[in-house]
Amino acid sequence: MSIEVKNLSFDYEGISVLRDVNFQIDRGEFIGIAGPNGSGKSTLARCLNGIFSPVKGEVVVDGISVKDTSKQWIIRQTVGLVFQNPDNQLVASIVEEDVAFGPENLGIPPAIIRERVQYALERVGLINERKRPVSSLSGGQKQRVAIAGILAMRPEYIVLDEPTSMLDPVGRKEVLSTVLQLKEEGVGIIYITHHLEELVYADKIILLYKGEVFKEGSAREILTDEETLTRIGLEIPEIPALSLRLKGLGIDFNETPLTIEEMVNVLFN
Ligand SMILES: Nc1ncnc2c1ncn2[C@@H]1O[C@H](COP(=O)(O)OP(=O)(O)OP(=O)(O)O)[C@@H](O)[C@H]1O
Ligand SMILES: [Mg+2]
Repeated sequence: MSIEVKNLSFDYEGISVLRDVNFQIDRGEFIGIAGPNGSGKSTLARCLNGIFSPVKGEVVVDGISVKDTSKQWIIRQTVGLVFQNPDNQLVASIVEEDVAFGPENLGIPPAIIRERVQYALERVGLINERKRPVSSLSGGQKQRVAIAGILAMRPEYIVLDEPTSMLDPVGRKEVLSTVLQLKEEGVGIIYITHHLEELVYADKIILLYKGEVFKEGSAREILTDEETLTRIGLEIPEIPALSLRLKGLGIDFNETPLTIEEMVNVLFN
């Protein structure tokens, strides 16, 4: 089971925004997508669950083309989309009501909705907040409510479009650890970000530049490729940057460390 993106091209009224984008994501995989402003990331996100239909090429979700308009509901349920600003995604004033909104719209019976709301709020660590007004939550908590709302629809894949850009460092960590846990449970994660340090645990990173895949590779390949990152206007994260500096000073890394833990391990073990 996978999302296959095949020669995907998209344009806004004749202006080309995505060209010949190819990749695949399986359930349980974590793919990071990064690129500078305007590189086409959000457009790609909307192509993955059929909000936008490809101009050329196709997106196939678990064997169903997003162009098949009769299957739109299944596609939207299978591929959940979380946006940058949780305030745009949250609709009800109480946490559990907000999470129930999606399944209610799918016409799911109330008893099952209750189970799903419970499941989703447990997954994001907000079960004790279920009765609270959404407005009383922190940014990180709100974004996790938005993720719970998507989870309550039981998606196989979640696309997150810069989900942490409105959040403080604590909120960022909360969202990221929630996402990593979902991956462990078999959900496919497509994580779009400007903050490359959030992608150290990605199985694969795709760099988008001017609507095309500029480079793709493992987290280690991409995050230590300072030249490529700089060329497309992205910043190398601090730990890989430090690793490269130490390498330049003669420290012989077998694998260039991406995290503090890896750095400490290679230096002191
Ligand atoms: N509704 C639209 N109509 C016309 N052009 C658009 C529209 N939405 C986006 N674009 C253009 O398409 C290109 C890609 O936009 P997109 O929002 O997908 O990029 P992005 O990588 O998500 O950027 P950002 O990092 O700023 O979120 C940009 O040049 C943008 O100006
Ligand atoms: Mg965007």
